[in-house]
Amino acid sequence: MRVGIDALALAVPPLALELRTLAEARGVPPAKFVDGIGVERMAIAPLDEDTVTLAARAGAAALAQAGISASEIGYLVVGTETAVDHSKPVASYVQGLLGIGAACRVYETKHACFGATAGVLGALEWIRAGGGKRPRIALVIAADIARYGLQTPGEPTQGGAGVALILREDPRLVEIDATIGHYASDVHDFWRPLPSKDALVDGAFSVECYLNAVTGAYRNFQEEREETERFSVLALDRLVYHVPYGKMAIKAHRQLLAEEGLDAAAADATFAEKVGPSLTLPRRIGNSYTGSLYAALGSLLATDPAPLDGARLGLFSYGSGSAAAFFTGTVVAGAQKRVAGLGDALERQRILAIDEYEALFHARNDLDTRPYAAPEGPATSPRYLGVDGGKRRYG
Ligand code: HMG
Repeated sequence: MRVGIDALALAVPPLALELRTLAEARGVPPAKFVDGIGVERMAIAPLDEDTVTLAARAGAAALAQAGISASEIGYLVVGTETAVDHSKPVASYVQGLLGIGAACRVYETKHACFGATAGVLGALEWIRAGGGKRPRIALVIAADIARYGLQTPGEPTQGGAGVALILREDPRLVEIDATIGHYASDVHDFWRPLPSKDALVDGAFSVECYLNAVTGAYRNFQEEREETERFSVLALDRLVYHVPYGKMAIKAHRQLLAEEGLDAAAADATFAEKVGPSLTLPRRIGNSYTGSLYAALGSLLATDPAPLDGARLGLFSYGSGSAAAFFTGTVVAGAQKRVAGLGDALERQRILAIDEYEALFHARNDLDTRPYAAPEGPATSPRYLGVDGGKRRYG
């Protein structure tokens, strides 16, 4: 059975901060953030945007791209690490906002940035299992607003986005292979204690944990394969990594290719062709946590100048804490045209001044208790309107 990604849509906040602006304000050479970290801009959410609105906007766009109705979805998962409620899942809000029917498995997954991949792998297994009277079609959404404290080393690695995937049989974007390499380890590299809005991170250790996971997941992938001949990552046409910031993809690529005996210089020689296009959109979004790998995949399909029909892909998902997966897929003919406009919303973002960014950062601290205010005009897409009688309201 051929299963995989049939549609991929992106929702980005309408605001952004240039990393050069942040660097100047923090007294850091701009080259450190733009080249050393590898990010140009980070998407910033306004006060009527939260994880629910990002997820719903991306989900609506994915349904439209696939040309299917909400009632056809039998499995709805939202992967997030910036949920809005300890109990009620973001997926339930999305179900309501998109009008997805009652005959649907609806839930939220959490494992730092790995959460959406956990949902994707579960949905693919559900599709492969088959059965039932209607086609098995899943909507898996990754949505997050990445946030670290002001003036911390993590500050230039914020961002946010929703990325929605329609998964089904006979997909029109990327066919995903059945073999999955896993790696998981109980580490304290990045976490967010319950009362905190900001992530805490042991930055250098988090990079080390990520790289250990690249090796671990790839080796497990080799072990899990049923074919007898050895698989070589060098045979893959493109590699797509979890991208907390652009430089991390370079480190990941070196780590992976070291498994094939290539040194850093040899790995770097393949980077621009095999990885470069997957970073075009993430460099302008920043870290989108659960959405990062799938934003990178969308970036590859939407911006790679080479024809990718039939291209073999390797995908690596990492979530701190930690859990990771390495898996492979094949680009379906015509996929690039289907997602050609994926990054268009980034062109329309309003660029913030540093004081506007800092004011928004502080104002978000009170977002979960902000009193409900009726919308001023008709909403063209889901917006967060505040809390009414203890319940979050959207319009
Ligand atoms: P830092 O203290 O700014 O790091 O923190 P640095 O001083 O090592 O500088 C970073 C790079 O800039 C270095 O390059 C410098 O050489 C270079 P590298 O050695 O790495 O190749 N540099 C310059 N380059 C050009 N011109 C200059 C210049 N100066 C220095 N003038 C760090 C960086 C990423 C650690 C920090 O931003 C951080 O803590 N970020 C958050 C954690 C993170 O993103 N970790 C990634 C791995 S874990 C992960 O991916 C999971 C995650 O997504 C969460 C989840 O799963 O939910 C985070």
